[in-house]
Parts: sequence; structure tokens; C-alpha cells
Amino acid sequence: MPNLEKGKLVMRSESFSSRHVLQALPKLPVPNLKDTLDRYLRCMKHLLTEEQFNKTQNIVMQFGAPGGVGELLQSKLTERSENVANWVYDYWLNDMYLNNRLALPVNSSPAMVFPQQNFMAPIDSLRFAAHLISGALEYKTHLDDRDLPVDYARGQLAGTRLCMEQYYRLFTSYRLPGPERDTLVAQESSVMPEPEHIIVACKNQFFVLDVMINFRQLNQRDLLTQLEKIVKMADNEEEQLPPIGLLTSDGRTEWAESRSVLMRESTNRDSLDMIERCLCLVCLDDASGPELSDTKRAMLMLHGGGLTKNGGNRWYDKPMQFIVGADGCCGVVCEHSAFEGIVLVQCTEYLLKCMIGSPSKLVRAASVSELPAPRRLRWKCTPEIHKLITSAADKLQRMVKNLDINVHKFHDYGKGFIKKQKMSPDAYIQLALQLGFYRCHGRPVSTYESASLRRFQQGRVDNIRSATPEAFAFVKAMTERKNSTKMMELLKGAITAQTSYTRLAITGMAIDNHLLGLREIAHEMKMGKLEMFKDEAYLISNQFILSTSQVPTTVEMFCCYGPVVPNGYGACYNPQSDHIIFSVSSFHESEQTCSAEFVKCLVQGLRDVRDLSCQTNGSLFIADQQVLE
Ligand code: COA
Repeated sequence: MPNLEKGKLVMRSESFSSRHVLQALPKLPVPNLKDTLDRYLRCMKHLLTEEQFNKTQNIVMQFGAPGGVGELLQSKLTERSENVANWVYDYWLNDMYLNNRLALPVNSSPAMVFPQQNFMAPIDSLRFAAHLISGALEYKTHLDDRDLPVDYARGQLAGTRLCMEQYYRLFTSYRLPGPERDTLVAQESSVMPEPEHIIVACKNQFFVLDVMINFRQLNQRDLLTQLEKIVKMADNEEEQLPPIGLLTSDGRTEWAESRSVLMRESTNRDSLDMIERCLCLVCLDDASGPELSDTKRAMLMLHGGGLTKNGGNRWYDKPMQFIVGADGCCGVVCEHSAFEGIVLVQCTEYLLKCMIGSPSKLVRAASVSELPAPRRLRWKCTPEIHKLITSAADKLQRMVKNLDINVHKFHDYGKGFIKKQKMSPDAYIQLALQLGFYRCHGRPVSTYESASLRRFQQGRVDNIRSATPEAFAFVKAMTERKNSTKMMELLKGAITAQTSYTRLAITGMAIDNHLLGLREIAHEMKMGKLEMFKDEAYLISNQFILSTSQVPTTVEMFCCYGPVVPNGYGACYNPQSDHIIFSVSSFHESEQTCSAEFVKCLVQGLRDVRDLSCQTNGSLFIADQQVLE
């Protein structure tokens, strides 16, 4: 059977590619125009004033009128869907990531926080790093051989085969900054030489660690030897170069400009080329301070603690940056445009599963083989570049001060209890988030929940608009303490509405991607900005004050990310059978938000919904706790 490997056609029997070629996944459908417009109005009515809603209703009616502009755009979109693998992919990628000019740390790049490691001596962190690198190389071999097992959907509509494309970008892509739009560069052809090095960052210096020497892949002992050499080289103060990595933490337009300044020097061009073509980064971080709570570790993963800590020990454009802190604070930060958190989790779990709980498997001693020393990347820095670094450092420092994050492990119950109530755990947690937010802020807001579209070719995500009218009715009743029969009826209605929206979204029938597609087609047709997309309601609908995502893991770790608007929250959750990990973020600069307060309301909400369920279902929570799955 044919299989694509490194741009060549080769024969292989049990591979992902061969099955993929033979049974292509379905294409993402284009939803019906009227359905989307009706759903849009339904989603927005309770989030708008009556006056705003009436205006929007008129605009939407005109847009969707027979023979009107909506129908024209819909027919063009349908045409597009026939000619490309996924009609929304490019539109979505640009809109979600590449057009966004905000700095990557906190605003865009999520992090996975590993369990706290207990490194007794400095060499322990290097042993851990050597093991991680060796696992990443092994994983990359699976990717190159295209023999990763195919993923199948779990949970809602379980069993369907999922698109595997995102995995193949883990170690081969790079986000190149541009003045107006970034580019996601993916090394897919054999024209580009395969990268055979990783970049190790240590004390803000960057080192090239070749992982293939004399046609042999380095083993863990060799890797440890090389890492020890890197640490020694990084300690040499006379050789130290400015913290260039800080430039990648700047706004994207600013970084694109600084990069073109850097590119004037051939030394810098060579160094950039090595970084842009590497497999991944491994950042050997200095210890960051005594107290390492989950919250503190999440912060350090997201922004590195600024210049005074490890903020310069990063290169944010590269999709995979493994962080190994001397103090055991470890994790991975990812550039998000190439893949979703679920793919990141799968890869990271592969690496961690063989390490956690069996430290004896870690390499004990460095090898004695004579390996050429890793190379320090050189930078020629003019006074202009020094100024740009200082400016980027100042902005990162402001971000460090601004991030308000709170990681909370909710131990009262987990998804085992929720399943026992015959409710979808995801829908239930979304309702608790709605309740928590309403109690904190007294109003419902546009909410984003990522829904996977990997059932389709090149599928990424669409949005489950969790602030449904049914959720609003429920949270109001809970806050007004209506009688429990009424509240239970509303809870069930809200769970049903949320679950139905989820099913719509994962089958490609949600509204956000569709509206984006219509907007972009209008733009391509040079129709100017249409009323439909100029309307205040459309702007409100895209201001995701609550940006949520389920990122479940089977290894003890959690995901975190920042808010997507200045006055909003990022809320990531990891439901386990007997507990749920929440990671809630916001900005201190906003007077409207406070992560600790939101977490407090969320916890109260989770307890109240449990009490309501137990009261009306007549079940005792203590007993339920015993039945976890
Ligand atoms: N009664 C009992 N059990 C139920 C139930 C009910 N009424 N409804 C669902 N369940 C069970 C499911 O069967 C499933 O069981 P499992 O743990 O054995 O697999 C479990 O509860 C979880 O299902 P549910 O909570 O409904 O959600 P889900 O797992 O289908 O997830 C989404 C829903 C939207 C999160 C998921 O479809 C998705 O898209 N995930 C990707 C999100 C993403 O991309 N995140 C990263 C962004 S960077």
C-alpha cells in the first residue's frame, strides 16, 4: 500500500497514511444559511439590549432575505467547499492566529504544566531533559514513519475516526512573524533538509544540539553529556550574548520589524535559520523562587517570569518548547497555530508516561564518547537591537505583572459523580462556569468553548456558544433561589441545550466558522464591510469575555492559557473521575475581573449544582462519591 514519507512515495502496510489515503475523512459541511442566522439570533438575544436586538434582527433578516447578499455569499462558500479540502481552514487560521498582532506569551500560547519534579542535584534536571529529548526523538520517528495510531473520538458521538494532520506539524512547523500577518511555515517537502538538531536555551543563550552525529542518533547518555557541556558553556560569562529570545515575546508586528533588523547581519541570519529549522526547544531554566504552587508554576510556564527570571530563555515562534527548571518546575509551552491542545496532550503524555513514577529509568551517567561540543548561536547586536530588546523586556514585564491566574483543584467530586446524574460532564461544567460568572458579574456574556472538528479533513475547532438562553434561565433561577423542582427542570433544559449545541459543533453545524466564512467571502469579493458584520451585536458576539476549553489528561498535569480580551477570563478545565482541575486567568489591569473571586463563585456554583442534583434525584452524595466511573 502506498505511504507518503518525507515527500516520497514508499510502500508500507499498517500505516496511518495508507488508511488515510484509502478512506479519506468527510469534508467539513457548509451549514444551511437560514439555520445559522436563526441560531445566531437565538444565541445573542439575551446578551443584547432590546434595542440592540431589534436592530440586529432587521439586519439579519435583510442579509438572509431571498435573493439577498447572504444567499450570494452562501453559494460562493459552497463553491469554495467543493474546491478545497476544508473551506474554513485558511480563514480560521488567519482569523484565530496569524492576523492577531498580540504577543504570543499569555495571549496565545498555552502551556502544559507537568507534575512538580523533585530534583535532588543539578544533574537530575539534565537527566530529565535528556529523557524528554530522547522521547521526543522517538515520537518524531513515529511521525516520520507515519505509524502513529489513528485517534478515534470519545465522549459525544464516540467512535468516529479523527484527522491526524495536526500531529505532523508538532516538530516541523514554525510561526514566522510578518508586518501584518504571520506565516505558519511547515516543512512538508523533501526540498528542505530534515532538521537534525534541537535548540537548547540556557541562561538566555541558545545552543545547537545535533541529535544525529555521524549518521547515529544520540542516545540518552550522549544527550546528557551534551547538555552538561551546554550548561558549562552557558555559565561562561565572557561569552554571554544579549537575551535575543525576548524579541519573540513582543507584539507580532514589532517582532517582525526587529527580525528584519536582525536579518541585516549574516551571523544573525545563520542563527535564526538554525532556530527556525530545529525540531523543538528545550529551555533549561534557573530556579524561580521558593514557593512553587500550581498557580506559580502555571505563571512561570506562560511567561517565564520576565527578564529577571527565565523570560528571555524562550523562543515563542517554535511550536514545542519544553521547559525544564532547575527547581523541578517543568512543562511545555506551545505556539498554538499549528495544532490544538488535545494533540499536544497526546504527544506530551507519550513522553511523560515512561518517565513518571520510574525515575530509575532515567539515564544515570553521561557517556564517555567523544562528541563535538554543541555550538552557541552568535548574534551581532547593534545599539538599535539592544533598544528593541529593552523595549520587549519592558512589555513582557508588564505582562508578568498583569497576569492574574488561579489554578484550583476542585476535590469535592469529578466527572464520575456527574455521569451518575446522567448528565454530560462537559455540559455540566460549562453550566457551572456560567453560574460562577453570573454570580460574580450579574450578567451573561459571549462564551467560547472549543469544539473539535477533527472528524473532518483538516479539521481544527469551532465554537460551542455555551451562554445559551437555557443556561441564562438556569443561572438566574439559581441566583434568585427559586424552588428546587423548578431549578432542576431548568438545569435539565440547560444541560440538554448545551449538549445539543456540542453535537452541532462537532458535526460542523455551529455558527462561528460559518459566519466567518461568509464574512471572508464578502471580503474576497470586495463587497466592503457589510452591515451584518459591522453591527454592534456581531462585535459583542466575538468578544469572548469567557474563553473556555476542556483539556483532559490521563497523566497528572494541567493546561493553562490567558484571557482573549482585556476584560475577560481564560478558563481551562481538566475533568478527572473524582476531581476537576481549573485554571482561571484574567488581567490585573482590568477592574472588572478577579480570578480568585471567579474561582470562589465557580466552586460555590459546583457545590450548589451538586446539592440540587442530589436533593432532587434523592441520592446521597457520599454514596455517589464511591461510584466514580
Ligand atoms: N450520562 C452519563 N454519561 C455521559 C452522559 C450522560 N448523559 N453524557 C456524556 N457522558 C459520558 C460520555 O460518554 C463520556 O464518557 P467517557 O469518559 O467514558 O468517554 C464522558 O461522559 C464525557 O463526555 P462529555 O462530558 O459529554 O464530553 P466530551 O468528552 O464529548 O467532550 C467536547 C465534549 C466539546 C469537550 C469535545 O467534543 C471536544 O470537542 N473536545 C476538544 C476540545 C479542544 O479542542 N480542546 C483544546 C483546545 S486548544
